[in-house]
Amino acid sequence: MTDLQKRFHEIIAPVIEFEYETEIIEGKGSWVTAADGKQYLDFACGIATTNMGHRPDAVVAAAQAQLNKLWHAGGAYMYEPIVEAAEKIVEIAPDGIDKVLFMNSGAEAVEASVKLARKVSARQGIITFRGGFHGRTMGSVTYTTSKAKYREGYHPLLPSTFVTPFPHPFGWGMTQEEANAYALRELDFTFRHEVTPGEVAAFLVEPMQGEGGYYPASHEFVHALRAIADEHGILIIADEVQTGFGRTGDWFTSQVYDVRPDILVMGKAIANGLPLSAVGASAELFDAWPSGSHGSTFGGNPVSCAASSANVDALREVVPGVNGLSGHAFSRWNELKERHRTIGDVRGLGLMIGIDLVTRDNEPDTEAFASIGRHAHKAGMFILNCGPAGNIIRFIPPLNVSMEDLDRGIDILADAIRAYED
Ligand SMILES: Cc1ncc(COP(=O)(O)O)c(C=O)c1O
Repeated sequence: MTDLQKRFHEIIAPVIEFEYETEIIEGKGSWVTAADGKQYLDFACGIATTNMGHRPDAVVAAAQAQLNKLWHAGGAYMYEPIVEAAEKIVEIAPDGIDKVLFMNSGAEAVEASVKLARKVSARQGIITFRGGFHGRTMGSVTYTTSKAKYREGYHPLLPSTFVTPFPHPFGWGMTQEEANAYALRELDFTFRHEVTPGEVAAFLVEPMQGEGGYYPASHEFVHALRAIADEHGILIIADEVQTGFGRTGDWFTSQVYDVRPDILVMGKAIANGLPLSAVGASAELFDAWPSGSHGSTFGGNPVSCAASSANVDALREVVPGVNGLSGHAFSRWNELKERHRTIGDVRGLGLMIGIDLVTRDNEPDTEAFASIGRHAHKAGMFILNCGPAGNIIRFIPPLNVSMEDLDRGIDILADAIRAYED
């Protein structure tokens, strides 16, 4: 054990899992450097957060400049960076999002979005989708069903939350169409048996599930939800904390599917790793939320906002290239799937790709991920998993990864899969 590992374990609460025991001292672009000098390809991306890689020059410059001017305001007075960051988000967000509320973390933004929906609709019910991940605070963990462990020991959770299936075609052994039909039928049963649609404030949904297993919702499913929401006056809260800022091939997955969210929740890559999150909605919705009904000391931090503006500008050059890199990655992963029985499914959008690892009986293979993760780490690469069994590789390189590094990452993982199967 190194000195840092010893001090870390003595003083840091173990409740938060740190995947790897490697001490990293520096990051640049797609790479990080360990204390012993070894270089690692970082495809963990701070859990889909460093979409522009580590320390992109323009974002560093904007944050440093702001640090030298003003770094905290705490709601006492106005400052330019918060306005500029909001203007940039509205420019890139789906139609109908014209005002922004800034918070600090994804969970806080989810909580704020639910408070907004309840307050303006004067309804209490929230419908969430099984496998969804929305955060760890008491409210957001109530909406989170990606893993029962996240909820264990914290009950009672919040009432008036109803969980209905999200289409998981591979997990269920169904086609996408069958899975959509099943999920929509169950939603209808929820309305018949548990809560009438007139009592539902919002559907809280990830247009592509992240932690729950990298399942894209499909165009048909999100449009069916939109139609049901419109019929009953239910708001759609799109949780795009993980999918936003170019990850799935457009700025937001709602745009990939050409579907309008009423409320858009953003976090993670919004400032490429500086703490910031946001809720976007129409002026009509936000203006109906009484001033002072919600608040935050740190939300909309000037440094994070300046970083976010520079980050969005930098991403403008990068997002148009995501689908090209994605096509290459998908064709390589699909080829590997043909050759390796451990790869049960390859799915996703843009550069948010899930590699579902299975046993010979087509069951989730948790051991496979553990072995592949270890092999990749030895070979100089960080990856994370997802899904309730932890058997799905999240393939989430930075969006500005070079083709060479993209291939290098796939080569390392292909070797690791080969080694596991041998
Ligand atoms: C879709 C989604 N929503 C919310 C969150 C919570 O974000 P945070 O960890 O910043 O609170 C996450 C984090 O992984 C997420 O993926």
